[in-house]
Amino acid sequence: MSGKILLINGPNLNLLGQREPEIYGSTNLAQIEAALKAQIQAAGFSFEAFQSNHEGELIDFVQQQGPKASFGIVNAGALTHTSLGLRDALKGVALPFVELHVSNVYAREPFRHHSYLSDIAQGVVAGLGVAGYGLAAQYVIDCLKEA
Ligand code: DQA
Repeated sequence: MSGKILLINGPNLNLLGQREPEIYGSTNLAQIEAALKAQIQAAGFSFEAFQSNHEGELIDFVQQQGPKASFGIVNAGALTHTSLGLRDALKGVALPFVELHVSNVYAREPFRHHSYLSDIAQGVVAGLGVAGYGLAAQYVIDCLKEA
């Protein structure tokens, strides 16, 4: 069993724990990354986390690391709703991924209801709070163990 799982977070997710806590909770990104690292490594897989506020940096990361990885967990933040470039990068490297949102984007403003990623994602986790990261990671671990 081998494989690398990427955790990719887009703009403003570096502010988790401080930003709109009534929507996003009080856990910060470093805590989420540490928990996923422990969970994924305990299951025998390797892990790399990346966050950027810049679309081009996210695309560069996907292009460089996507081909070497087995799966991604992607919270693209606002780029979910705007970025054809990030979509094309994920599709271009054929990285299977789970699209993740801390909040229930479908219960929020209409401009959050469309995603450029959902139809190319293996699945979508939304509205489960930061617990969604751990649940997505468990799903990915199970998929890779079955493969
Ligand atoms: C988000 C939802 C997006 O609409 C928003 O722009 C974010 C975070 C979430 O995790 O709920 O930045 O992806």
